[in-house]
Amino acid sequence: MSRVFSGIQPTGVVHIGNYVGAIRNWVRLQDEMESFYCIVDYHSMTIPYDAESFPRRVLEAAAVNLAAGLDPEKTSLFIQSHVPEVTELAWILGCVTPLGELQRMTQFKDKARQHAQSINAGLLNYPILMAADILLYKADTVPVGEDQLQHLELTREIARRFNAAFGPTFPEPQARLTTGARIMALNDPERKMSKSVPGSYIALTDEPDEIRRKIRRAVTDTGPTSGEMSPGVRNLFTLLEVFDTEGATYRALREAYDQGTLRYVELKDAVADHMIAHLEPIRERYQELIHRQEELRAILAAGADQARKVARATMEEVRERTGLRT
Ligand code: AMP
Ligand code: TRP
Repeated sequence: MSRVFSGIQPTGVVHIGNYVGAIRNWVRLQDEMESFYCIVDYHSMTIPYDAESFPRRVLEAAAVNLAAGLDPEKTSLFIQSHVPEVTELAWILGCVTPLGELQRMTQFKDKARQHAQSINAGLLNYPILMAADILLYKADTVPVGEDQLQHLELTREIARRFNAAFGPTFPEPQARLTTGARIMALNDPERKMSKSVPGSYIALTDEPDEIRRKIRRAVTDTGPTSGEMSPGVRNLFTLLEVFDTEGATYRALREAYDQGTLRYVELKDAVADHMIAHLEPIRERYQELIHRQEELRAILAAGADQARKVARATMEEVRERTGLRT
């Protein structure tokens, strides 16, 4: 049976880009395979963060994912640091990882530039910890966005090197590219929607009024059109296609666009209506969950128990193979 693993950073805001590009796919895959989903708190320590509010952020990330449809009956949702075996495996894998490969990772180079005053070793070793996440659970399927493909390729190489040195232990995991559309920034539709760009995103937990206001302000045509659909209008149509699950409104407005009779305000109102209808139950469930912290913690504890069973078995095998058995 296939096993899927993915991780998400507890970064505060979860926006509709994360939902369409990542979370929605997790929710689908939990019906197809045995699945482990992890809030990767250790990874988030590689850049400056606030220790005081960290526990709350981690719980919020868990609550958003559950509200969006992850089902603890079908999937093991847990917090990375609750299964500390991952750090032990990361150490061992680090010893078969070429330094040059780590230095050449695009994300490392980007983050090293962004945090030039404090380039810590964790930032460099980030992909080893990610490889440890995946290999600890012997996952063969890893849903990620394009930006993580390089890390996944390195994970495969680490698995090959380990297997070559110590005997076949780890499957080589395959990336499952998130099929979701790339959602662009509302205020700058040539760029990806991102939590680091204010005004670019709609959070999964935004209030209906806020959603409507943000959509109303979305950039449509920035200049004279050349006959081709502008990036802003295309983005609004993408959003309509995603959130109008029946597709009737989408088809009608596409037709109006083709005939040149579409008013953008109509398009915006339709996007807002469908998005609000889709996100409202998620927001409500989120509010419930975040106020029931005990239940939330119990779900995460049960997830960690499931994960730990697999992690312990893998580590016994790894210690045996690597000669850590004196
Ligand atoms: P991030 O928080 O930016 O690291 O993204 C977490 C996950 O959400 C990754 O798997 C991304 O591929 C996905 N994601 C982030 N931004 C977008 C976006 N604008 N459109 C589609 N997917 C996104
Ligand atoms: N690095 C991933 C990101 O920033 C998160 C992550 C950590 C992950 N461990 C993972 C993703 C294991 C997939 C598998 O999006």
